[in-house]
Amino acid sequence: MDGKVAWVTGASSGIGEALAEGLARRGASVVLSARRGEMLREVQSRCPRSEAHLVLPLDLTDTAAIPAAVSQVLGHYGRIDLLINNAGLTQRSLAIDTSLDVDRRIMDVNFFGPVALTKAVLPKMLERGSGQIIVVSSLLGKFGIGHRSAYSASKHAVQGFFDSLRAEVHDRGIGVTIACPGAVRTSASLNALSGDGTPHGRMDPFIERGLAPSDCAERILRGIEREQYEVYPARLERLALLLSRLAPGLFKRCIRAKRLEQLPK
Ligand SMILES: NC(=O)c1ccc[n+]([C@@H]2O[C@H](COP(=O)([O-])OP(=O)(O)OC[C@H]3O[C@@H](n4cnc5c(N)ncnc54)[C@H](OP(=O)(O)O)[C@@H]3O)[C@@H](O)[C@H]2O)c1
Repeated sequence: MDGKVAWVTGASSGIGEALAEGLARRGASVVLSARRGEMLREVQSRCPRSEAHLVLPLDLTDTAAIPAAVSQVLGHYGRIDLLINNAGLTQRSLAIDTSLDVDRRIMDVNFFGPVALTKAVLPKMLERGSGQIIVVSSLLGKFGIGHRSAYSASKHAVQGFFDSLRAEVHDRGIGVTIACPGAVRTSASLNALSGDGTPHGRMDPFIERGLAPSDCAERILRGIEREQYEVYPARLERLALLLSRLAPGLFKRCIRAKRLEQLPK
């Protein structure tokens, strides 16, 4: 990754912050995006060679602003080698109690944002015949659990879109890596939306016991270096994925009984 230009969304906290720092340590020039510019500047100042990185505040739900942001990055660095679609928003509410506005907001941030940004970055990568697109999905992009209907739907949508994209661009020099973390100790549950759109505002015990963001980021970065199709930074909860594949009926009964409810967010 030394000398590469890597764009990380959601770089103001959690996994994205750790990805930005890990990339900078590996010698990449990092474009840091999220809505909170002040937090991004703090992350930038902690990165090695801080002057090599670019803070670019961006609200991913404002898709009209994306082409100008891409032009700004290309104007600054001349190319984008890695795009890491990491920004995301989760939920803590039953489907029946979740307003359609919340369903749409989660789809806007988790699905349409990465899709719009990827479509804007891809033409230059295709022109150069190289580049890597990464998206941070979740184990819940593989199966659903209670209280995460919109979130899980958005991550399943991400999985489908980026699997299809990989099939289209692989032979043109573009790699696609999908990261499916389990629980990671970030502010995700604090920032999660309740059914009426207000913040959940609580740290879930399962998230608190999750992987350190730096550990998750390192596993993702190793997966990117190896050009893996998928990477699973998770503890034992990744066994849930195995169970869902090997014994789908039993798995669904466990989910129903809420035994796995506090698995990955
Ligand atoms: N933590 C976990 O257990 C876990 C597990 C599986 C997958 N994930 C995934 O990991 C990714 C990172 O989440 P995290 O755990 O690090 O949570 P986090 O600490 O809450 O970080 C979320 C990031 O997304 C940014 N963001 C939110 N809305 C945005 C918008 N409209 N436009 C641009 N940026 C926006 C936030 O920055 P601003 O507020 O400054 O915009 C923040 O930097 C997400 O995609 C999440 O679904 C997390």
